[in-house]
Amino acid sequence: MEKLDFIPNDLVSLKDYERYAKQIMDLNSLAYINSGAADEVTFRKNEEAFQEIYLETNSLEEVKNLDIKIELFKEIYDNPIFLAPVAYQKLVDINGEISTVQASNVMNCCMCVSSFSSCSLEEISKNATSPLWFQLYIQPDMNINLELIKKAEKLGFKALVITIDAPINGIRNVEQRYGFSLPKEISAVNIKNPFQLLNDYENISDIAKKLPTWKEIEFIKNNSSLPVVLKGINSVAYAKKALELGIDGIIVSNHGGRTLDSLAPSIKVLPKIAKEINKKIPIIFDGGIKRGTDIIKAIALGADAVMIGRPIMYGLATAGALGVAHTLKILKEELQISMIFTGCENIEKIKEIKLSNLQY
Ligand SMILES: Cc1cc2nc3c(=O)[nH]c(=O)nc-3n(C[C@H](O)[C@H](O)[C@H](O)COP(=O)(O)O)c2cc1C
Repeated sequence: MEKLDFIPNDLVSLKDYERYAKQIMDLNSLAYINSGAADEVTFRKNEEAFQEIYLETNSLEEVKNLDIKIELFKEIYDNPIFLAPVAYQKLVDINGEISTVQASNVMNCCMCVSSFSSCSLEEISKNATSPLWFQLYIQPDMNINLELIKKAEKLGFKALVITIDAPINGIRNVEQRYGFSLPKEISAVNIKNPFQLLNDYENISDIAKKLPTWKEIEFIKNNSSLPVVLKGINSVAYAKKALELGIDGIIVSNHGGRTLDSLAPSIKVLPKIAKEINKKIPIIFDGGIKRGTDIIKAIALGADAVMIGRPIMYGLATAGALGVAHTLKILKEELQISMIFTGCENIEKIKEIKLSNLQY
């Protein structure tokens, strides 16, 4: 099937986009995007776990001033739906991250740009009218990290996200079976020879010597003027450590099940992490979000905002910038509709939904 330049009537949900994208994407890209690590247990359960949580209606509450704006790090964001960092977007669209940022502009969302974006940070920021965050994979040469951070600061990125849960690639059996490789014309243009891409399993012990620790996190935190957000927190212990180090925010995430298979579904670990954080710093959530009701559940269980990863790529693969914008629009409208049903006039009200009312 060819990429679409219109939206057919049967494209009405994120799952529909997934269905279309699977018919449009080449098998190489599909192996990279529509897969998780090892047996893909965490990948599958991220989404399934949402289906075990149920909501209640409160449809006689006043919702006259329906409002989905949020405030994070003293900035107002139009809505709590953020675009997760996803590498190599040119795999599914000739303009890659430029198409995505155009869609993000139209829907006034916040896009988090991957270290491994296939367009340069300069190009992306030049095309952005909506807020951008920058995601960093820490490189063994600290000068490279500092250069990237300074560039992001200069280009007006609003936050620095350090991904801590993917120091190396997970065991990507689906990619291995298929023989996934990046086409020659696509690369991580912002970093020469990115460290995380080494799939050299024979030298694992050498690789292990170069991996970042809390020391590097502390160093970067002290050398950046941007709010620092740690992405890939899935334990109470690491949430606690982030607070101790004065980190500005966390992203509860298991990388969409792409790193260590057997990690608990993100939504299952969110409540205990939120309890530990106790509203001291913002919590962003990702993993398995496909519906407005999923966003309600994540916010009710402690998140301030959510990110979506694969759905961005499915939208991009199906219909380029139009597909991403439509994906974001669907999700935003589903969130608003679900807020009316649950009697939540604004995002703060969603946070007041009692955990006991979320039936497991
Ligand atoms: C194809 C692909 C590439 C990704 N690339 C990155 C990346 O470069 N940096 C990062 O921090 N996370 C990356 N992620 C993880 C996402 O940011 C996010 O945590 C995950 O996709 C959320 O789960 P979801 O796909 O179910 O929404 C990637 C995920 C996918 C599917």
